[in-house]
Amino acid sequence: MTTSISTPRVLTGDTPTGRLHLGHYVGSIQNRLAMQETHDCFFLVANMHAFTTRAESPADIRQDTLEIVKDWIACGIDPERSCVVLQTEVPAIAELTWFFAMLLPFNRVMKNPTLKTEISAKGLGDQYSFGFPMYAVGQCADILAFRPESIPVGEDQVAHIEMCREVARRFNQIYCGVDSHCEDDQHEALGGVFPVPKAMVGKTGRLVGTDGEQKMSKSLNNAIYLTDTPKQVKKKINAMYPGQSREPDEPGDPEINPVFHYAEVFLNDEELLHDLKRRYLRGDNLGDGHVKAHVIDAVNELLDPIRERRAALEGAEGDKKVTEIIREGTARANRVAEETLARAKEAMGLSFFTRTLA
Ligand code: TRP
Repeated sequence: MTTSISTPRVLTGDTPTGRLHLGHYVGSIQNRLAMQETHDCFFLVANMHAFTTRAESPADIRQDTLEIVKDWIACGIDPERSCVVLQTEVPAIAELTWFFAMLLPFNRVMKNPTLKTEISAKGLGDQYSFGFPMYAVGQCADILAFRPESIPVGEDQVAHIEMCREVARRFNQIYCGVDSHCEDDQHEALGGVFPVPKAMVGKTGRLVGTDGEQKMSKSLNNAIYLTDTPKQVKKKINAMYPGQSREPDEPGDPEINPVFHYAEVFLNDEELLHDLKRRYLRGDNLGDGHVKAHVIDAVNELLDPIRERRAALEGAEGDKKVTEIIREGTARANRVAEETLARAKEAMGLSFFTRTLA
């Protein structure tokens, strides 16, 4: 693993909830692949967060943890260059979470719109665990433990990142004497322990599901998974409603056709895309099946190498390989996070003695 001091750091992560789908790919993974080229990347498996709503299913969470890392590696996350981090083995995150919880008003956390959306989407009512809203505070610690410059995320995470930025500013102001009027990008230069990191929302923040209406998501049963076979991809896309009912020689509106939304995202051939749109608008002998066939090809072309790398990680042997990747990444992550924690404690007047654990 190579690191240079000047390479800016980024951190992002996923809660392991099952296999990744195309929405994850275009909303976030693609962005991460690009960032590997230019940044020192930390990719966190937020397995602790999985317990906030599934505490009674530890075996599933364990499986999902390995599966998500397999998906990442299959997509091209390169453990030689990037750090794969297991949240539950980075104790500094849990410690920072406590300190940060004291810097956020309770009602500020409870008004976090992403939490509210999740509570209603998951039908949690008022039955969620204490740990559920706590995860948003924990996420501030996930991020700040690594003092990253930015956080590549989907747009649904922006509210969490905003909270993280507030925590960083408040910590630096209270414990490091950073002036409350200082610019966000000046915090570290002025003695703050934490940078005020920025959210970087991917090119396609939101990919519509195969229902053509809602965001692609596992729970809505409208997802195309990275591990779907070519046949499954074909079946799912062919079953999509093109947003309107028309004949091949009738003009159509690509804007309201979710298959065209996929064409925009997945067709690499700009000329072909342009041509399809033009013919669709005119009703120039272009059936919906034809558009779908192009999209199916493009999606399968994207997924082929992913499927191949994923197949090499199946089974117990794959579990072993992936566990080793996680172990190495987490070891390096702990070196960074422990240093952050030591600096934070120093700033808080908590450096009574150096901690040495047996
Ligand atoms: N909450 C994020 C999600 O559900 C996952 C996550 C946990 C995360 N910790 C993070 C994302 C830190 C970015 C940074 O997708």
